[in-house]
Amino acid sequence: MQVHPTIAGTRAASRTARARGARVGLVPTMGYLHRGHLELIRQARERAQWVAVSLFVNPTQFGPTEDLERYPRAFERDVALCEGEGVDVLFAPSPAEMYTPGAQTFVTVEELSKPLCGAARPGHFRGVATVVAKLFHIVEPDVAVFGEKDYQQLQVIRRMVRDLDMPVEVVGVPTVRDADGLALSSRNQYLSREERDRALCLSRALASARDLVAAGETDAERVLERVAVILSEGTAELDYAEIRDAETLAAVQRIERPVVLALAARIGATRLIDNTMLTPA
Ligand code: PAJ
Repeated sequence: MQVHPTIAGTRAASRTARARGARVGLVPTMGYLHRGHLELIRQARERAQWVAVSLFVNPTQFGPTEDLERYPRAFERDVALCEGEGVDVLFAPSPAEMYTPGAQTFVTVEELSKPLCGAARPGHFRGVATVVAKLFHIVEPDVAVFGEKDYQQLQVIRRMVRDLDMPVEVVGVPTVRDADGLALSSRNQYLSREERDRALCLSRALASARDLVAAGETDAERVLERVAVILSEGTAELDYAEIRDAETLAAVQRIERPVVLALAARIGATRLIDNTMLTPA
C-alpha cells in the first residue's frame, strides 16, 4: 500500500491503475477507522480492482464551536487497518494541501442540505459536498462507497453527482452496529462507559418505531412521540427526530411508503446520529 500526502501523487497512482484497466474505487473517511469504515472498504474491493481510501479531517465541514481540534486521530493504526484490507493507496493530505490559500469555491446542494443535520450544523453539508467533489476530482473513481449511517450525507452526495454529471457510481452501505445495537462511530470514543450504555436508547428508539410501523401505525407524529419517550427515558437530549421521504427528505405526515426516520441526540457532550428505514405493513 502506498501512503500519499499529495494530490498529484494520488491522481497519478489512480490514473496508472486505470490505464492498466482497473476499475477505481474510493472510500472517503476522516480516519479513526472502525468496522463500519472497513465494511465500506470491503464493498469497494468487491466493485473495483484498485481501491483508494482518503483520510482527511475536513475543516470546512466543522462549525466554529464543533470538535475539529479534538476529533480522534490514530494515523498509524489506520494505516495498518487499510493495509490489512488490501487498500492500494491511502490519500492522507494536510489541510494546506487540500485547501490552497484563497480558496473560495464551494459546492452547495441547496434543499437537501437544509433540514435535519443541516439545520443543526449550518455549512456542514457545503463542507462535505465540497471536499467529496474535490476527492472525486483527485482520485477520479468509477465507484465511491458511503455509509447509510450518515443518511442525509449520502443523499446530498447522490444529488451532487446527478446534478453535476459526475461519472461516479455511488454505493450506500447499511449501518454497521455493535452487537447491542449502537451504531459504530468515531465519536463513540468520546462516550464514558455509562454514557455508552445510555446511548443505546437511540437504536432502541429506532427499533421501537420500526415495530410500531410494522404493526400498522401510519401517523408519523405518533411514531415520533414514541421515539421521544424512549430517548428521554435514556436521558438523551433530543436535537431532532424526524420522519422524511427517503430520497427528497421532504417532511412526511403519513407513512404510506418506505420513509426514513433520522435522529440526532446528545449524550452528555457528545452528539450522536442514527437512522432507520420505516416500511409500512
Ligand atoms: P467519517 O465519519 O469518517 O465516515 C466515513 C464513511 O464511513 C461515511 O460514508 C460514513 O457514512 C461511513 N460510516 C461511518 N460509520 C458507519 C457505520 N457504523 N456503518 C457504516 N458506515 C459508516 O462521513 C465522513 O467521514 C465525512 O463526512 C466524509 C464523507 C469523509 C467527508 O469529509
